[in-house]
Amino acid sequence: MIRVAVSGAAGRMGETVCGAVEGADGMELSGRADPALGADLASVLGGADVVVDFTTPDTALENVRACLEAGVHAVLGTTGFELDALRQTVDAAPGDANCFVAPNFAIGAVLLMQAAQLAARHMPECEIVELHHDRKLDAPSGTAKRTAELIREAGGNVHEPIHSVRLPGLVAHQEVLFGGEGQTLSIRHDSIDRSSFMPGVLLAVRSVAELPDRLTVGLEKLL
Ligand SMILES: NC(=O)c1ccc[n+]([C@@H]2O[C@H](COP(=O)([O-])OP(=O)(O)OC[C@H]3O[C@@H](n4cnc5c(N)ncnc54)[C@H](O)[C@@H]3O)[C@@H](O)[C@H]2O)c1
Repeated sequence: MIRVAVSGAAGRMGETVCGAVEGADGMELSGRADPALGADLASVLGGADVVVDFTTPDTALENVRACLEAGVHAVLGTTGFELDALRQTVDAAPGDANCFVAPNFAIGAVLLMQAAQLAARHMPECEIVELHHDRKLDAPSGTAKRTAELIREAGGNVHEPIHSVRLPGLVAHQEVLFGGEGQTLSIRHDSIDRSSFMPGVLLAVRSVAELPDRLTVGLEKLL
């Protein structure tokens, strides 16, 4: 049994993760941390093997540091911080607990990034439009920033700025538009429900302890 505590447990993602962990084989929900529940992260670390963090950009790194220092593996879904700062946090943490981070836990978003890398080799000029619900704190999204990074690695030219749309009714959506000689290509992914992220989160919970590196970035590394 993997004992899983959720950080940000009262939030939109955190609540969904709590339900998914409760319904999953081989794991149990050992704690819910959230200021809104009157429980801080420190109070759930003692009973956890893995913490899943879906909180805010300004608390995520501090939370990862606390997990690793307590010898608890961290699965990080929060976005909006710099990846280099996370690398420094993990490098500086004592012990041998691991951190797994993915800007997007939905398989469709991972496939979009891979398809975009393929397209960029043949149609390098492109723009990214990301669309999210109006209470998302960061812009552009972590998924859009990671997509841009991967497209550039594949030789593409991502035009600036990345376009961020924030509207009620949306969950998490992204489109990459490529323009070439007399043609365009659009690749789009839509998370229409937060359940789309749960298979990826559960896979990360099951995998994080066995990862070869202390920090692993991207769901594609687990597939
Ligand atoms: N990686 C992915 O696949 C993915 C998918 C969706 C959302 N996200 C990201 O997840 C994060 C959370 O999104 P949300 O929509 O659930 O936000 P939310 O605002 O609904 O929830 C965040 C929760 O974190 C709590 N919180 C704040 N500080 C905390 C702390 N120090 N310790 C514990 N809990 C704390 C808040 O009280 C709140 O309940 C955002 O960064 C969002 O971009 C990632």
